[in-house]
Amino acid sequence: MHPVITIDGPSGAGKGTISQNVARQLGWEILDSGSLYRLTALAVSQDGLDMTAEAAIEAVARGLDVHFETDSGGLKIMLRGEDVSEAIRAEDMGMKASSIAAMPGVRAALLERQRAFSSVAGLVADGRDMGTTVFPEAQLKIFMTASCEERAKRRHNQLKEKGISANLPDLVADLAARDEQDANRSVSPLRPADDAVMLDTTEMSIEQVTNKVLDLAKSIF
Ligand code: DC
Repeated sequence: MHPVITIDGPSGAGKGTISQNVARQLGWEILDSGSLYRLTALAVSQDGLDMTAEAAIEAVARGLDVHFETDSGGLKIMLRGEDVSEAIRAEDMGMKASSIAAMPGVRAALLERQRAFSSVAGLVADGRDMGTTVFPEAQLKIFMTASCEERAKRRHNQLKEKGISANLPDLVADLAARDEQDANRSVSPLRPADDAVMLDTTEMSIEQVTNKVLDLAKSIF
């Protein structure tokens, strides 16, 4: 199989930032699997579907019209021809994504789409079940965590940088609710693969975590 590093873990652990850094340094492709669940949730909202209409939501996931475009401004995520890069990052879209991600049909619909990101050059795949379900043969699996308070603080800073005001206790509550939902669903719950390297980043800087993953990668690839 092609080279794959999976980075799983709860919301806000820093998986996205680290995946981007590692992929850039190695010259590999990247899969932000959460964006596919967020895109499905957004498409479902656009269609005005009930969030419990499982068969209809599965059909949306299966037919998702998505393009990832890179230009000088970075990565643009296009849904049905419209740039939704910002819209899918809203907090409520994270919670909706988590809800529809518990539906077995939705997960099945997105499985092959995720596997198709595998590339000769190598892939860094970020999500909840990359090491357990989507790429169980990956050569390097990381399970990245940080305390709930630290994750909420990081998210708070990210939002502040974007000029969005947020309340820290609300963010802690939202993250805890999403973790609970992601870890307790029956299909592909959030959990480390048996052969995953556990990485608690609570006390680590972004640079330290990036270097740690790169060191592990150098010992394998
Ligand atoms: O990583 P994220 O916050 O963008 O993901 C949004 C939601 O999507 C997350 O709360 C659960 C779901 N998800 C999933 O179930 N499996 C994945 N591999 C990635 C995300």
